[in-house]
Amino acid sequence: VVADTMDREDLMFTYKGIPYPTTLCSYEVFKAMESFEARSDDMILAGFPKSGTNWFGHILLELITTFEKKTEVEPTIYGEEFDEFPYLEIGDTEKYQRMKKIPFRRVIRTHLMSQNLPKSVFTNKAKILLLLRNPKDLATSFFKFSKVMAPFPTYESWDEFFKDFMIGNIPWGSYFTYLSEWNKHADDGHVMPITFEEVKENPLLGVKKIAKFFELPLTEEELKKVAERSSFQAMKNNSKETHGVFGNVLFRKGGVSDWKSLFSEEQNQEMDKIFEECLAQTKLGAKIKY
Ligand code: A3P
Repeated sequence: VVADTMDREDLMFTYKGIPYPTTLCSYEVFKAMESFEARSDDMILAGFPKSGTNWFGHILLELITTFEKKTEVEPTIYGEEFDEFPYLEIGDTEKYQRMKKIPFRRVIRTHLMSQNLPKSVFTNKAKILLLLRNPKDLATSFFKFSKVMAPFPTYESWDEFFKDFMIGNIPWGSYFTYLSEWNKHADDGHVMPITFEEVKENPLLGVKKIAKFFELPLTEEELKKVAERSSFQAMKNNSKETHGVFGNVLFRKGGVSDWKSLFSEEQNQEMDKIFEECLAQTKLGAKIKY
């Protein structure tokens, strides 16, 4: 037995009550992850799927490479250009032993809810950039992605997906639970929430915030270049090189309010209600542009 339960034609299994895609995650890797020891200088990018993880991952990588070129030192940071899949919970069971041997600062992405991360992430105060996105746009992006991404369960209709999104029967679970669990860490000094929408509105300010948080001092000119190279258009133009065929799927619209093309008035009210009841009064909920 490799999982608590299997459902949706074996495309997902649940671990500690959260569904994950069987093609990307496994019970064995989750078990092996228990040996992972976070460090205080780890740079963690935490975000629910479709919250902009590739975008922010790229910003971080641009900041790191600019910083390293400028300081003319041998790499001091273990970024994603090294031969390792960036998501903490995706890979093989040996991954954590390899990560242990890395002598540099490590860049790690994760879609996990805070309660399912190794405890050392919090006890050792690894730096966590927490991505937030309006749940309506996130759901829209997730649905469009599910339609074309084979390892994810696919849906005949938006209405069918919406029901599963609302109860968290999608890979990595409920976004509402995700936000309320992470909200418990909203005041942790080593966690910095940032929204998709604020960076979309003012990319340079967003890039500056991220550079400051991870202590990567760069000039105004350098930061401007990072912002330019991380724009939706720049990343889309470069996507064949960076993401292969996957790029076509990933760089879809990159905007805000696309949800209006899918949500019915009833669905809009249903999501507003749950947001209002569970999240609007929380620190993270208040940050989300709703
Ligand atoms: P849309 O589907 O709404 O277009 P993730 O990387 O977590 O899978 O998130 C994917 C979403 O981020 C997609 O949203 C994608 O278009 C958007 N995205 C990717 N790069 C971006 C960028 N440079 N600027 C703005 N949005 C970006």
